[in-house]
Amino acid sequence: MKKWTVSAVVAAKGKEKLGCVTAYDAAFARLADEAGVPILLVGDSMGNNVLGFSNTLNVELADTLRATAAVCRGAKDALVVADLPFGSYQGNEDAAVENAIACIKAGADAVKLEGATAAVCALIRRLTGAGVPVLAHVGMQPQSVNIYGGFKRQGKTREEAERIFADAKAVEAAGAFMVTLECIPADLAAQITAALKIPTIGIGAGGVCDAQWMVMHDLLGLNEKVPGFAVKYLDLASLVRDAFSRYVLDVKNGEFPPV
Ligand code: KIV
Repeated sequence: MKKWTVSAVVAAKGKEKLGCVTAYDAAFARLADEAGVPILLVGDSMGNNVLGFSNTLNVELADTLRATAAVCRGAKDALVVADLPFGSYQGNEDAAVENAIACIKAGADAVKLEGATAAVCALIRRLTGAGVPVLAHVGMQPQSVNIYGGFKRQGKTREEAERIFADAKAVEAAGAFMVTLECIPADLAAQITAALKIPTIGIGAGGVCDAQWMVMHDLLGLNEKVPGFAVKYLDLASLVRDAFSRYVLDVKNGEFPPV
């Protein structure tokens, strides 16, 4: 298979829908890559899915760099995107640029960041100018969970929908090569997808987007509870639990190690 590049992802708009997943380690990145997943996101959702937090806010840049390097060691053809964690780009712009470049040096092909404020758009402009491709993220932004008072769908009122539409246009104008649309109404995602030249990648935003995200742990059934829009393609939790309990039993019964 060929290596997925930013330009290949952009060129796929309108031709091929891309099913993309999060990845946090080398073992699962290799399996997803071998299965042909085009984009692996080293998501800050590692906070909830791997590190045991209730949200993404505690993820540190060091966690992202370590996981990005691991995912890159596992993946061969997928485009690897490092998700800039909370606190790594909201303050000083020079520090944000350094942090994004550290992700590229760890092996990522691009970075993702949330929002479309003037400061975020200026950062997107500066990063793309410096050679760092940016995947933007509008709609529900998990790093703003404390502003929303929970993980709440966005874009339900006309004003919110207009703001999200304007946000998507703004990040495109700033130079983002793709934009995540998270937890917004499907018709709004469809309007944005039609209005933008860059591809959209949805999560909880209906089926019209150019690409879809799934959190790997939801897809594989490692999480007991998954959001309504997610599909468990496997019940890995049951398989893993069963394997562990058979092993414990075998040791107890003297059947492990085998003779
Ligand atoms: O970290 C994450 O899982 C995300 C989703 C949008 C895929 O940002």
